[in-house]
Amino acid sequence: MKKIIIVSLVFAAFIIALLGFVELKPTQAEYADLTLNRYAEQAGMPPVVFPHWFHRIRFKCKVCHEEIFLMRQGSNDINMQKIIQGEYCGKCHNGRVAWAPIYCDRCHSAPSTVVIPGARGFLK
Ligand code: HEC
Ligand code: HEC
Ligand code: HEC
Repeated sequence: MKKIIIVSLVFAAFIIALLGFVELKPTQAEYADLTLNRYAEQAGMPPVVFPHWFHRIRFKCKVCHEEIFLMRQGSNDINMQKIIQGEYCGKCHNGRVAWAPIYCDRCHSAPSTVVIPGARGFLK
């Protein structure tokens, strides 16, 4: 009898743990990577994946919001000229705070049907 109770308790704990795991998923989605694609694909580049969480654990929110980026996906008018001039991602990706924006594929990393010409920095 005791054994049955223990077994069912372990089983119940397992189910609860499983449910907990399933329930975690939406929470993680909140911190998921953001895709930026206002211009990229149209201009022949794969969309940009911005690893939000990667940055959030390194910088306080107010480093970026709202002085550099408005806090809504797709609301910032970002292009490469601005980045190279030190705006948006280029505030840090300038070869000093973080690597320079010459490694195209590190940012333009979203799955895409766009075929990337070697001349655009994707040749290793
Ligand atoms: C390194 C810069 C950076 C930091 C630090 C940062 N964010 Fe962001 N955040 C961004 C960028 C870039 C976007 C996307 C903007 C776009 O798509 O135009 C964004 C978007 C968002 C969005 C909108 C997401 C959506 O789906 O519309 C929210 C909410 C947000 N950030 C909250 C935060 C919070 C809270 C923190 C701190 C815990 C934080 N961010 C830290 C750069 C940053
Ligand atoms: C506040 C400074 C800051 C801003 C703004 C910023 N980054 Fe970063 N980013 C960093 C730092 C620091 C690293 C880590 C560099 C390293 O590891 O050498 C990084 C790393 C990355 C990585 C590599 C992540 C990995 O897994 O190694 C990507 C991709 C990236 N940034 C994309 C972007 C994009 C796209 C934007 C603009 C939408 C942006 N970043 C804006 C500071 C910034
Ligand atoms: C630090 C991250 C980062 C790096 C590195 C980077 N880009 Fe971008 N790029 C962006 C972001 C962010 C956008 C705007 C995305 C959008 O909303 O379409 C963008 C947009 C573009 C666009 C469309 C807008 C425009 O300016 O015409 C082109 C083309 C482009 N990038 C080419 C390149 C090339 C070529 C390289 C390598 C030499 C490169 N990018 C490297 C972040 C980056």
